Amino acid sequence: MTRKFIPFELERWQSRWEHRVRYNISESGVHPLSVGELLAIGSVDPDELHSIRFGYTQGNGSDELRDAIAALYPDCRRENVITTTGSSEATFIISWALIEPGDEVAVLTPTYLQAWGLAQNLGASVRTFDLEFENSWEPSRESVETAISADTKLVVVTNPNNPTGHILSEETRNVILECAQKTKAWLLVDEVYQGAELNGETTQSFWGSYERVIVTSGLSKAYGLPGLRIGWVVAQPELIEQLWARHDYTVICPTPTSDFLAQVTLANRSAVLSRTREILNTNLPILEQWLNKFSTDLEWLPPQAGAICWVRHPGNPQTPELAEFLRTEHNLLIVPGEHFGKPGFMRLGYGNESGELRAALAALEAGLRERADWSSFVQVAP
Ligand SMILES: Cc1ncc(COP(=O)(O)O)c(C=O)c1O
Repeated sequence: MTRKFIPFELERWQSRWEHRVRYNISESGVHPLSVGELLAIGSVDPDELHSIRFGYTQGNGSDELRDAIAALYPDCRRENVITTTGSSEATFIISWALIEPGDEVAVLTPTYLQAWGLAQNLGASVRTFDLEFENSWEPSRESVETAISADTKLVVVTNPNNPTGHILSEETRNVILECAQKTKAWLLVDEVYQGAELNGETTQSFWGSYERVIVTSGLSKAYGLPGLRIGWVVAQPELIEQLWARHDYTVICPTPTSDFLAQVTLANRSAVLSRTREILNTNLPILEQWLNKFSTDLEWLPPQAGAICWVRHPGNPQTPELAEFLRTEHNLLIVPGEHFGKPGFMRLGYGNESGELRAALAALEAGLRERADWSSFVQVAP
């Protein structure tokens, strides 16, 4: 029997519409850097970029780039690293290498549903365990223990989390590690939001806590460079070899300009990350001020990392309808909770330039007030 293909609704929603709306707060990263800004941060002569030839590059990423990535992690060498086209390709080749029909995969939700969808498209069954709003976005020990069974092949965690912006407590990390180790499951930790912490304290990587830990990350979120399409995997060399064999089938190699600019980025990591932090800390108060006007309608916990806020709208379980209304009538893109598997929520991205964010929030407010049937927004003075 042919399996029904599960589309990646979030990515389809964004790729179809985000360049066609006036206001876009569907993104989870900060306002991207331009090539010129990045070269200026790194004091790189633009001629260096201009002289790059568009040949094929080293397939798994240049040695220099893999050394720079390895240096971000304790006890990590270039043999532990493969460079990928965004962290999406990283998740794809890992899923392809590890998941077989009939496998069981446990996924911490809400989350970016790539691994969740891929696992099912590859014939696995998925169990989820939830970050709980009432538990300050921590999962209960019981839910972790139930989701990670003796048959679990792969556990998938995103930390810091998208869409909540939550960073797992030490206690939860340990419970997840303990359960994964007990069943010898692979533990894939997506750390693409690491470095985008509002308080500037880098989230501790899972790398090194267990031999079956696989870390993915990249330059799209914390570094503000999604268009560079540079991601990576950090894992044991044997698995990296298996992933490279898949990568030969996907995209072959990074572009030479991306490999070069990724090296510039990592050589100037702290300056790039400070820019991100500055954007986050300037814009979150703007968003919170806006949200506070509607505290009777909306519930949220302040994000700890990432330019994302996960907002519960209990009066309105129909978030796709709301999102479609905002898009068609107010030229505004948000992400409905359903794209993370959670009706009644919306994800608001606050990483834009501040003026843009204010204008987008005004459009959101206008849209919500117009739909009096969906909330009591109209009763609150503008
Ligand atoms: C948790 C998470 N992982 C991976 C990705 C994919 O990003 P990229 O392929 O640009 O690294 C995203 C994008 O939104 C994400 O939120």
